[in-house]
Amino acid sequence: MEYGTDERKGKVSVRTLLKMKRNGEKISALTAYDALFASFLDELMDIILVGDSLGMVMAGYETTIPVNMDQMILHTQYVRREVRHAMLVADMPFMSYQISPEEALRNAGRLFQEGGAEAVKLEGGRSVAEAVHRCVEAGIPVMGHLGLTPQSIHTFGGWQTRAKNQDEAQRLKEDAHILQEAGIFSLVLEKVPATLAEDVTQSLDIPTIGIGAGPQTDGQILVTQDLLGMYEKMKPKFVRKYAELAGIIREALKQYHQDVKSGAFPSEEESF
Ligand code: KIV
Repeated sequence: MEYGTDERKGKVSVRTLLKMKRNGEKISALTAYDALFASFLDELMDIILVGDSLGMVMAGYETTIPVNMDQMILHTQYVRREVRHAMLVADMPFMSYQISPEEALRNAGRLFQEGGAEAVKLEGGRSVAEAVHRCVEAGIPVMGHLGLTPQSIHTFGGWQTRAKNQDEAQRLKEDAHILQEAGIFSLVLEKVPATLAEDVTQSLDIPTIGIGAGPQTDGQILVTQDLLGMYEKMKPKFVRKYAELAGIIREALKQYHQDVKSGAFPSEEESF
């Protein structure tokens, strides 16, 4: 498979991602919540995540906590229609996997069967290891997520960097290995010190995907609307803005509004 070119061949799978880690090839990942963005992303990305961040970006919630299974399935279906090459991962929303490994399996199965996901992601360490194991045993690949796990935002009391002290860093490292043992195929590390992310990355066989975790993880992920400068409610330091689309969108809408008001739109050429 050729990476980093527009000539994409083949399909990214868990095996491709493992091979990329072994070859030292970086994994690029972004979020999508609809078919239009998915079609842009699928031209280049290795992984497309239907993140529960859709709750904040699409639905206007303050956190990811209100997002439910029906919303995740619907948006995964939208994205599914335009994904041919990237690996399609869908987030398991809050309370869809915490109650029991059986519920985790049932809900992961729904994202797989009804949504068309090729893998699911869930947050947490040792407490979700059994749920991970059950899904993997059933043939559903699972991605882990440690560090600043947004579904636990009220427990953390804010969006601060996690695992800055020795005890939390040690616990995170242990959790990473427990999850690997349980069968995850990759691990998101969010907003943790770069040195810790590097240490965890080197100690695992599976690839790590960083978000605010420095440059030494095996791959990187961001929320697409953040890097495009569209989502303005939060401005985390780890987001590099590759465009400032919010300004461009506002300007285009203003022009349209003025043209309608003045009668300049539509013109004769735009009429029948
Ligand atoms: O929900 C999300 O978008 C995520 C990220 C890792 C970007 O979990």
